[in-house]
Amino acid sequence: MILTVKEVIRNRRSIKLFNGKPVSKEALLTIFDDAKWAPNHGNRQPWRIVLATEDGLQRLNTVIRNVVVPNWEELSVEELAKKMVKFTTPGAVAFVIMPEDLRQKERLEDFAAASSFIQNIQLLAWDEGIGCCWKTPGWLEKPEFLNKLGVEAGERPIAMLQFGYFDTIPAEKPKKSIEEFVTFF
Ligand SMILES: Cc1cc2nc3c(=O)[nH]c(=O)nc-3n(C[C@H](O)[C@H](O)[C@H](O)COP(=O)(O)O)c2cc1C
Repeated sequence: MILTVKEVIRNRRSIKLFNGKPVSKEALLTIFDDAKWAPNHGNRQPWRIVLATEDGLQRLNTVIRNVVVPNWEELSVEELAKKMVKFTTPGAVAFVIMPEDLRQKERLEDFAAASSFIQNIQLLAWDEGIGCCWKTPGWLEKPEFLNKLGVEAGERPIAMLQFGYFDTIPAEKPKKSIEEFVTFF
């Protein structure tokens, strides 16, 4: 697809149902390399990514299973598969990790910059026909998960980005009208 900036912004949807087809590491690295042109104060580029594809995705899902379904050994194969389906159907997963600057202004700037970087990723992925959903599940903060992900002291993951191919595009969500969020000075 080659969409205009306006089209990609207007048409993108968060994709939460994937069809299981893998997403290549190369496609995602190209997307991340373009997304890095996001605005960021002082050119600090306050982000790093841990990417899981192919075998890495299998290993990641074992870690997620242990954290998210601690009683997995007591479940039947079908019960476990049902609980894990939202992790086993994406074709790749990336975690965006940012530094936690001790200064509040810089930390907010870094969060804003990393969020711009993430939106660039989502838009570039959409343009390639790759669906994405930015997720922030509670377990993303759990020490046992942070440890397995390799998050260092002074860092924080701000997004789990699930990528994948999809068969249906979700309907658009209602948005505020321009009159509701613009006033004139
Ligand atoms: C910071 C952030 C966190 C989000 N966390 C989740 C999440 O944990 N689970 C989820 O299903 N969607 C999550 N979303 C996606 C939103 O549900 C989605 O963007 C919203 O419903 C609007 O839909 P759209 O992106 O298709 O326009 C998150 C989005 C953002 C920006």
